[in-house]
Amino acid sequence: MSVLCKGFLLLVLFTTKLEALDSKFAFASYYGDHMVLQRGPQRANVWGYASEINATVTVSITGVGQYQTSVVKGPFLDRGVWRIMLPAVFQGGPYVLTAELVDGSSITIKDILFGDVWVCSGQSNMEFTLTHEFNASVEFAEAINYQNIRLFTVNHSESGYQQFEFSSVEERWSLPNNKTLANTGSPAQWLYFSAVCWLYGKHLYEKLGYPIGLIASTWGGTMVESWSDDESLAQCGLKPPPRNRTYVGFPKYPALLWNSMVHPLVNYTIYGVIWYQGEANAAPTGTPAMMNRYNCTFPAMIDGWRRQFHEGSNGETDVLFPFGFVQLAPWHNNATITVGFPDIRWHQTADYGYVPNKRMKNVFMAVALDLPDYTSPFTGIHPRDKEDVGKRLALAGLGVAYNHIDNRYTGPYPIHFQIFVAQNTTQITYDDQHLDIRSKDGFEICCLDQTTHINCADDKAKWYPAPINASDNSSVTIGYGGVCGSALVSSIRYAWRESPCPFKACAVYTRLNDLPAPPFIEVLLSPSAFVYH
Ligand SMILES: *[C@@H]1O[C@H](CO)[C@@H](O)[C@H](O)[C@H]1NC(C)=O
Ligand SMILES: *[C@@H]1O[C@H](CO)[C@@H](O)[C@H](O)[C@H]1NC(C)=O
Ligand SMILES: *[C@@H]1O[C@H](CO)[C@@H](O)[C@H](O)[C@H]1NC(C)=O
Ligand SMILES: *[C@@H]1O[C@H](CO)[C@@H](O)[C@H](O)[C@H]1NC(C)=O
Ligand SMILES: *[C@@H]1O[C@H](CO)[C@@H](O)[C@H](O)[C@H]1NC(C)=O
Ligand SMILES: *[C@@H]1O[C@H](CO)[C@@H](O)[C@H](O)[C@H]1NC(C)=O
Ligand SMILES: *[C@@H]1O[C@H](CO)[C@@H](O)[C@H](O)[C@H]1NC(C)=O
Ligand SMILES: *[C@@H]1O[C@H](CO)[C@@H](O)[C@H](O)[C@H]1NC(C)=O
Ligand SMILES: *[C@@H]1O[C@H](CO)[C@@H](O)[C@H](O)[C@H]1NC(C)=O
Ligand SMILES: *[C@@H]1O[C@H](CO)[C@@H](O)[C@H](O)[C@H]1NC(C)=O
Ligand SMILES: *[C@@H]1O[C@H](CO)[C@@H](O)[C@H](O)[C@H]1NC(C)=O
Repeated sequence: MSVLCKGFLLLVLFTTKLEALDSKFAFASYYGDHMVLQRGPQRANVWGYASEINATVTVSITGVGQYQTSVVKGPFLDRGVWRIMLPAVFQGGPYVLTAELVDGSSITIKDILFGDVWVCSGQSNMEFTLTHEFNASVEFAEAINYQNIRLFTVNHSESGYQQFEFSSVEERWSLPNNKTLANTGSPAQWLYFSAVCWLYGKHLYEKLGYPIGLIASTWGGTMVESWSDDESLAQCGLKPPPRNRTYVGFPKYPALLWNSMVHPLVNYTIYGVIWYQGEANAAPTGTPAMMNRYNCTFPAMIDGWRRQFHEGSNGETDVLFPFGFVQLAPWHNNATITVGFPDIRWHQTADYGYVPNKRMKNVFMAVALDLPDYTSPFTGIHPRDKEDVGKRLALAGLGVAYNHIDNRYTGPYPIHFQIFVAQNTTQITYDDQHLDIRSKDGFEICCLDQTTHINCADDKAKWYPAPINASDNSSVTIGYGGVCGSALVSSIRYAWRESPCPFKACAVYTRLNDLPAPPFIEVLLSPSAFVYH
């Protein structure tokens, strides 16, 4: 009974979908003129529809070769699908690809380039378009120099089922110019093209010199759970909502956007993903539960995408493909907020403080906590300086995803803490010999409370400022006078504020590539480790 029910629902679902594609012989929606297919050594996958099961499809690509495949039953009940895995192509192009059915009908894609395909996803700060950012006019004027970068934007949609096709596309594969990079209309809509996605791709292109394909799939205000597949959700004790419902309006439930805006891409070979999201999971916007489990949900989502893209591409998309993210920027001009964004920033690294790490392999990040823009007309949660974000993310991406190591691609991170009990100071040694100290502020300490035994991770813990009172090229020394009395310093944290400092004026940077240190919280002594007499 329930099987029949499901079958019926599937039929309804996919029939509706396919009416959009009126042609009997077609490529899937995200193949088209000006596209970028993944270059060698990976092999690009191309697929489409045809009605006649077992019919032969011949695919030829100029200067590369001719290949045959046949139509099989697909996930779409009323029509078959065909799929071909091209050989590895290293030369950029352009190429023309033609698919022919035995009955003589043929379809063609022109001006194809082979390069690296990156998917850009997340909430509004990834959706935030070039039109809205500080340097929009410069980017539009320079776009002419980047004709080998191609753009594609997925439209919003949601579904209880994993879809194999987009319900609609916002912007088909396009060459960059002041129309395709900018949404029109007044006030400008948040449609295309993603500023962070573009700037990231542009900086990659400048170093790599071969084509880059950018696919933006974003929805403002959405939580990480919406972009996660069932298996990733299960790992964190969560469940998707009922499948057999029609979801409309703002996506409120887990999996809906994964199903509809990302899953259709699993059959496309890609190089990597970048991500800017987390604001919606931070309390008080999100619930404390959504925030506190982000150290599970985010790494699990990455694992899920990797597993699914690897399987869907017949193993051509790396099972550990590079995944980059932006660590949250500031929001309110209010130095007292210590809950929400700081928790998410920490959880974005699976509570390691840095990436890549043991839990998050081949993951890289751009630190953005020092880029406030409180007077942004799009509110302070949408800082307009995406230039620095794109630059920092590309630097880290080139390091982690391409092994192009140009000095450092991460901010300084502490490797050693030495407590001088009598002096009431602690020396923090960094993994960097080129520290650039721009302010005294940002470090705080928490004392081991022998009476209440309050853990410093607790909301009720009291933190005291511990200004930097000495530094050299690889360490800072922080002092805290007698605030702990006879108690010991138990924990140290840095930049643990929603908005920790003025523009590019946090305390710790490296002179190498001008990168800020990410925030950390370090437990030096925990109550359980302490022996009471
Ligand atoms: C397709 O080919 C297979 C194997 O040759 C055959 O069993 C099947 O009946 C064919 N299906 C159709 C619809 O022709
Ligand atoms: C995008 O989706 C919305 C909502 O379904 C729809 O109204 C709009 O027409 C779509 N845009 C395009 C370009 O298809
Ligand atoms: C867009 O670019 C075209 C071609 O370079 C140029 O003629 C036009 O003035 C530009 N428009 C705007 C609004 O910048
Ligand atoms: C939806 O699916 C659930 C679980 O499979 C089932 O219990 C429920 O009856 C279904 N609802 C409808 C309207 O089909
Ligand atoms: C995740 O963070 C929560 C607090 O937000 C903590 O209780 C939990 O231990 C952390 N889990 C992991 C796996 O780090
Ligand atoms: C896409 O990938 C899925 C998951 O691996 C697979 O079931 C499906 O058949 C693939 N689609 C095509 C057209 O090959
Ligand atoms: C700053 O944030 C705190 C904590 O959320 C709040 O109590 C206070 O009213 C805020 N101050 C301003 C000026 O908005
Ligand atoms: C804007 O672009 C110009 C020219 O490329 C560059 O010199 C300047 O630094 C950019 N501004 C920002 C905020 O990145
Ligand atoms: C710190 O590094 C700078 C160059 O980065 C160097 O000129 C200076 O001598 C170093 N200082 C010490 C104390 O090593
Ligand atoms: C550093 O901090 C310690 C402890 O608060 C204090 O005794 C010392 O005077 C400070 N040194 C400087 C140079 O500020
Ligand atoms: C360190 O703090 C203790 C406890 O308040 C105080 O007695 C002592 O004088 C301080 N030492 C220095 C060097 O400031």
